[in-house]
Amino acid sequence: MPGLLLDTLHGSNVDQRPIWLMRQAGRYLPEYRALRAQKGGFLPLVYDSAAAAEITLQPIRRFGFDGAILFSDILIVPYAMGQNLEFLVGEGPRLSPRLLDTALTSLHAVPERLTPIYETVRQVKAGLGGSRTLLGFAGSPWTVATYMVAGEGSRDQHDTRALAYRDSGAFQAIIDAIAGVTIEYLLGQIAAGAEAVQLFDSWAGSLAPAEFERWVIAPNAAIVKALHARAPQVPVIGFPKGAGEKLRAYAAETGVDAVGLDETIDPAWAARTLPTGLPVQGNLDPLLLLAGGDELGRQALHVLDCFAGRPHVFNLGHGIGQTTPLEHVEQLIGVVRGWRPR
Ligand code: CP3
Repeated sequence: MPGLLLDTLHGSNVDQRPIWLMRQAGRYLPEYRALRAQKGGFLPLVYDSAAAAEITLQPIRRFGFDGAILFSDILIVPYAMGQNLEFLVGEGPRLSPRLLDTALTSLHAVPERLTPIYETVRQVKAGLGGSRTLLGFAGSPWTVATYMVAGEGSRDQHDTRALAYRDSGAFQAIIDAIAGVTIEYLLGQIAAGAEAVQLFDSWAGSLAPAEFERWVIAPNAAIVKALHARAPQVPVIGFPKGAGEKLRAYAAETGVDAVGLDETIDPAWAARTLPTGLPVQGNLDPLLLLAGGDELGRQALHVLDCFAGRPHVFNLGHGIGQTTPLEHVEQLIGVVRGWRPR
């Protein structure tokens, strides 16, 4: 039984609206906070496959979402490429040594750091009902590179953009290395049971047009091509956050099967501009879900109406906020499930 989400990503369902939310497994759920407190941190959770599978399934049990996204992180790839990874409470992730002052070739890859993730995928698959879709994911090379180069998150990806201009050959080698590991990692998730995969390019929005072509479109196209060659039945969702009008080129040139839209994209513009029949995903502002009320219902219906006649997966424009009230999530699901094309 393929299910509503998979049918939509394949373009064969245009009438009903599946829903899942980015970051749906996480801190807004009391059951997540309880398990996290017990395991003592984020990485210990990710590396305990039974716990990670349980966390992946928590939002499905509570809300019945159409898709379950693997509980892991995009920074597992740099960790497997040989950087040290820590999540500092209140400060976010740290990778060391950073590639701003260390050569890529001095890292020693640790591919075993990917294997527990495949075990998580297998355990989720075993616990998931037949009509719900299991989503794997990875970061896109540009976004992952910004963390590998700077060693941490940054406001405008300054160090990485500067490196890409200063030494584009060295930076190309970093992008190619990440892309290579990402292809194997996603194929590993697919072999373990992932039925669709999403590429998160959270910092795509900071690049000038020519750089967007080189560091976003080209490596994502290479990943999609390799996945389509080796796993042709598995749809790839590309999410180039902040791409704005560059989405048009992204959709035309990467070969992704569906495009994720952030909340800054006008859904009416996307509906007119993106290729007819291309499945889209998004794009309610996560802050509306925090606020709740009539405005949440109105704007969710606006997104739904804009994409009538096109395959559409309902989602937020970015991850769900950690203080989001659970009743607002229930309210949103009611609106989406109650919607019918006019
Ligand atoms: O969507 C899901 O529910 C699946 C799991 C998932 C996580 N991170 C879990 C997580 C996914 C898909 C991600 C993607 C991710 N990770 C991205 C791309 C999407 C985006 O949000 O832009 C990025 C940039 C990261 C890197 C990352 N991981 C940061 C910057 C942080 C710290 C900020 C924060 O929210 O705490 C993380 C930690 C992280 N990844 C948490 C979760 C649930 C919080 C961990 C905790 O403290 O419990």
